[in-house]
Amino acid sequence: MANFTFWDNPKFHHVKHPLIEHKLAILRDINTPTKQFAELAEEIAMLETYEATKDLPLEEVMIDTPLEKAKCYMVSGKAVGIVPILRAGLGMVSGVQKLIPNAKVGHIGLYRDHETHEPVEYYCKLPADAEKRTLLVVDPMLATGGSASDAITMIKKRGVTSIKLCCIVSAPEGIQKVIDDHPDVDVYVAAVDRCLNEHCYILPGLGDAGDRLFGTK
Ligand code: PRP
Ligand code: URA
Repeated sequence: MANFTFWDNPKFHHVKHPLIEHKLAILRDINTPTKQFAELAEEIAMLETYEATKDLPLEEVMIDTPLEKAKCYMVSGKAVGIVPILRAGLGMVSGVQKLIPNAKVGHIGLYRDHETHEPVEYYCKLPADAEKRTLLVVDPMLATGGSASDAITMIKKRGVTSIKLCCIVSAPEGIQKVIDDHPDVDVYVAAVDRCLNEHCYILPGLGDAGDRLFGTK
């Protein structure tokens, strides 16, 4: 049994909530159709975003209510960007956008080679001012961690220093790899599953997230 140390790492965040548990159960179900799978991925992404943005800085503003002036607070400082890892990460973008509608969206193209299970890069396009933003990298699945770790490396090479990773279902191996490779990055997951199988699929997992989101199998 591998010795995982991420549990005590303050950069690791297991986002727990009864609504997330409920939605995860339906998401995992082999009988859940594509349309509902996509809706659930969006909803869980929204709930995770609530948690992942807890430390956004606020600034004081004065607002005219219909009755008087009120001291209020609005998000200030660094703007946010969303970076889905193609393809399956696309299924989380709209959930993040529901809470942060002004977030710019970049894209990173990576797929796992079916034989080596290693990530293969094919695309990277980030917002022009990415280095001034906090980037939320989104991907429903964190299995070996190879794709997420490579995506974060690609983003760092472009000068970005504030990065958070949001995944839905994860394996301990993947969390440990990202935390080890990128100790500065906060990692948010909705579920920590048991292990990986011989094909590096997460157990119990939910199968191939990209295929389930886009109905390609
Ligand atoms: C899946 C998933 C992650 C990756 C996770 O993508 O969406 O990007 O695998 O695996 P890892 O942690 O072992 O790297 P996949 O390669 O199936 O591509 P797709 O999203 O285009 O289907
Ligand atoms: N990618 C997926 O879509 N599912 C897994 O279980 C592992 C990687």
